[in-house]
Amino acid sequence: MAQTDELVIAIDGPSGAGKSSTARGVAVRLGLDYLDTGAMYRAMSWACMTGGVDMTIEGAMIERARGAELRMGLDPADPRVVVDGRDITAAIREPVIAEHVSSVARVIPIRELLTDQMRSIIAGSGRIVAEGRDVTTVVWPQAQLRLLMVADPAARIARREAELAGAAGHERVVSSIVDRDRKDSAVSRFEAPAEGVRLLDTTHLGLGEVIDEVVAMIPEQRS
Ligand code: DC
Repeated sequence: MAQTDELVIAIDGPSGAGKSSTARGVAVRLGLDYLDTGAMYRAMSWACMTGGVDMTIEGAMIERARGAELRMGLDPADPRVVVDGRDITAAIREPVIAEHVSSVARVIPIRELLTDQMRSIIAGSGRIVAEGRDVTTVVWPQAQLRLLMVADPAARIARREAELAGAAGHERVVSSIVDRDRKDSAVSRFEAPAEGVRLLDTTHLGLGEVIDEVVAMIPEQRS
C-alpha cells in the first residue's frame, strides 16, 4: 500500500469511555477497517479460562496464549473474534471474562505476542481504526490521528449498564469499572495523553457528536 494512502486512527481510553462505539462508527462512516485490541486480550482470557489454565501461573497462561490461533474480523459492522476455529464474539463479552482479563493483560510475554499480532493486522490493512489502552503509545504511535478518549466515571458506568442491558446488576457494573481502571492503570498509562495524543472528553457528548469530532480531527489526506 502506498504510504500516502495509509490512514491509521488510534484511540485509547478507559473502559466505558465510548471507544468501541466511536471507533466502529468512524470506521463505518469512512469505509475503514476496525480493530478492537481489548477483544484480543479478552480472547486470550477466554482461551485460558476454558482451557482450564490456572490464572495464577504465568507460564501456563503464556503457553496457552502462544498455542491459541486468534483471528480478528475487521468489519466494523460485525467484528468477529475466532479462536482455534471457534467463534467467541459473544462469549468474550460475558462479565466473567472482564473480571479475569487483567490477569492475562498484565503478563508481559502475552502483551508482546498480542502487540506483534496487532502490528501485523494494522500494517496489513493500512486503513484502519484501532482502539485499546496502548495503541497510541506502544502498538502504533505513528498513527495519523492519536486520541485519548475519556469520560467521567458516572457517565462510563451508565453507558456500560446500557450496553449490558440489565445482564449485570448496578453494583457489579460499578465495581467492574472501578476495579478494572485500577488494574488496567497498573499495566498501561492512559489517564493523561502522551505527547502528540489529543484528548477528547465524551462525558457530555452523544455518539454522533463524538464521531463528528473525530472525523473533523483527521488530518487532510494527500491523494
Ligand atoms: O476494552 P476492553 O474492556 O475490551 O479491554 C479488555 C482488557 O484488555 C482491559 O482490562 C485492558 C486490556 N487491554 C490492554 O491491556 N491493552 C489494550 N491495548 C487493550 C486492552
